Amino acid sequence: MDSRTIEILDKLEKTQDEFWNISHQTGNFINMLIKLMKAKNVLELGTSNGYSGLWIADALKTTNGKLTTIEFWEKRQCLAREYFEYCGFSDIVNFKTGQAYDIIKTEIKEMFDLVFIDANKQEYLSFFEVVHPLLNKGGVILADNIISHAKKVEPFVNAISNHKEYQVQILDLPDGLLMAYKV
Ligand SMILES: C[S@@+](CC[C@H](N)C(=O)[O-])C[C@H]1O[C@@H](n2cnc3c(N)ncnc32)[C@H](O)[C@@H]1O
Repeated sequence: MDSRTIEILDKLEKTQDEFWNISHQTGNFINMLIKLMKAKNVLELGTSNGYSGLWIADALKTTNGKLTTIEFWEKRQCLAREYFEYCGFSDIVNFKTGQAYDIIKTEIKEMFDLVFIDANKQEYLSFFEVVHPLLNKGGVILADNIISHAKKVEPFVNAISNHKEYQVQILDLPDGLLMAYKV
């Protein structure tokens, strides 16, 4: 990992509660998974200040991939843009500002190898419905806060666990990370 990326990740770990970032362990796991899968095209729902996106972009540098990340809170996404630029990731990241569901439904036509869901917990089920057709076979959906927000994400967890096209496991990382493999 580049020294600038380490510097910014360390810095952002001091304000993780304020920006609702994923844990360091979750970021490290996602980074390794992208490299293992050799994922080329990743979609993130919930950019915040870019902490998780930096873990993702760092892995995508090694796979020659690209990231599309969606956030409706402009001020937060502006911070993310600055950090991505400082770390040299601007050329591989496509920022979209607005409601994730609407943007995916109306603007996004490409297919993805990995989708990371980390926006409004009550919308996880509708996010799943809209990203499912955009996920390649052999692709992975990751969703954070499965244990910390168990009640809110229950409809999503039930739907994806009972879906015949997905093999699902909830990983005991901080807050709980759901991993679903599209068979
Ligand atoms: C948990 S934080 C994301 C943290 C980020 N993934 C990280 O770990 O650095 C969720 C973010 O999603 C945004 N958000 C929530 N619901 C959204 C929606 N429906 N569309 C777009 N952004 C949304 C919030 O403004 C917030 O910044």
